[in-house]
Amino acid sequence: MVQSVERFELRAAGGAQTVLLYGDGALDVALDEICPWLKGRTAFFLSSEPILGHQGDRLRELRSAAGRDVSLRAVDGEAAKDGLGPAAALWQEMIASGGKRDSRLVTFGGGSIGDLGGFLAACFLRGIEYIQIPTTLLAQVDAAIGGKTAVDVGGKNTVGAFHHPRWVVGDSRVLATLPAGELRAGLVESVKMAALLDTDLFRRFERDLDRLLAADPGVLGPVVAASARAKVQVVSQDPKEKGLRRVLNFGHTFAHALEKQLDYRHLRHGEAVAYGLLFVVRLARELNFLEDDLDRRLRRLLIRFDLPELPMRELRAGSDRDVTEQLVAWMQRDKKATEEGIRWCMPRGLGSFDLDVVAPLDRVGDLIRRFLADPWAEPV
Ligand SMILES: NC(=O)c1ccc[n+]([C@@H]2O[C@H](COP(=O)([O-])OP(=O)(O)OC[C@H]3O[C@@H](n4cnc5c(N)ncnc54)[C@H](O)[C@@H]3O)[C@@H](O)[C@H]2O)c1
Ligand SMILES: [Zn+2]
Repeated sequence: MVQSVERFELRAAGGAQTVLLYGDGALDVALDEICPWLKGRTAFFLSSEPILGHQGDRLRELRSAAGRDVSLRAVDGEAAKDGLGPAAALWQEMIASGGKRDSRLVTFGGGSIGDLGGFLAACFLRGIEYIQIPTTLLAQVDAAIGGKTAVDVGGKNTVGAFHHPRWVVGDSRVLATLPAGELRAGLVESVKMAALLDTDLFRRFERDLDRLLAADPGVLGPVVAASARAKVQVVSQDPKEKGLRRVLNFGHTFAHALEKQLDYRHLRHGEAVAYGLLFVVRLARELNFLEDDLDRRLRRLLIRFDLPELPMRELRAGSDRDVTEQLVAWMQRDKKATEEGIRWCMPRGLGSFDLDVVAPLDRVGDLIRRFLADPWAEPV
């Protein structure tokens, strides 16, 4: 049975256009459009063994629509993007199996497979067409949208290209097997977008969070689609991240510093972002920037996520420097920092924000100390 599938488009710079199909049963609806695109072509299907084990059956019709179906495998997680090695090995397979300029590539996985697959497609024979079928909530609301592809060479997402997929298919049915922790981490990215870009969606989170955390398809599909739409709107206004797109960095300045200090272990990205959101609303309050009670509302919402605690022992380990100084240093080294200092996407309130607000370093350091002692402190 096919239910409420939403169709929308992303027009990006250079005339590239992506069709997005989202909702319960989106993959079935997509077949009519995508099968002709695969017909008679060599099609590379990039995924991982675990994801194929859970959800591989859903690809059957797409695979049989291709002229020739060639499987490519990656490992999940950041290992897929570990330097140029995994990409180079896959490009060799693509050449060896007769890949041509008109070959197609389909990614089927989380953000790591999507980023790798997009990068493969961007560079193979100077660019082949591809589609994203994201299988994690994070990839459906964030990673698969916007054309950013990358691998990690000496740092995260350092080597990549903008390359827009022809379709993004976000089918909520594939999320049924997603581990609860992955679902929760992805929902944090949706909350991030809702708080500044879609106040109705934020209210829906406040109302339906329990059902969302239980992966209730009746509420999950529409929330994922609304989040994807919010990202599409931002990206279409600012395809190359020159301005507005930096709103997507809300909560990420502090989160990236946490992740670097933890060497990308111990916390999922979305979990780090949750702490990053708590931090930046508190900073906004202390700088008298906040004009409403977004800090209270976000805290009240995020508390219900039952996130893992900040791994303090691990945060302190591996460096002789004081953890606060180290976190400030990571933020200053962030590629989004400027000469003037650390720039924040700073909330003014629900649905309202300023980009590139520079906060005094001593105030930031002072708050980090108190935050690490009690990240869930009640706003004053
Ligand atoms: N390109 C962008 O704009 C962008 C934006 C945000 C994040 N990213 C990237 O996304 C990556 C993280 O992606 P992620 O959070 O999706 O993690 P991931 O790709 O590592 O997947 C997480 C886990 O979920 C499992 N999984 C995936 N789908 C499943 C399913 N349907 N059922 C059961 N298990 C499933 C995988 O096996 C894996 O263990 C990072 O590399 C990050 O840099 C990119
Ligand atoms: Zn993020």
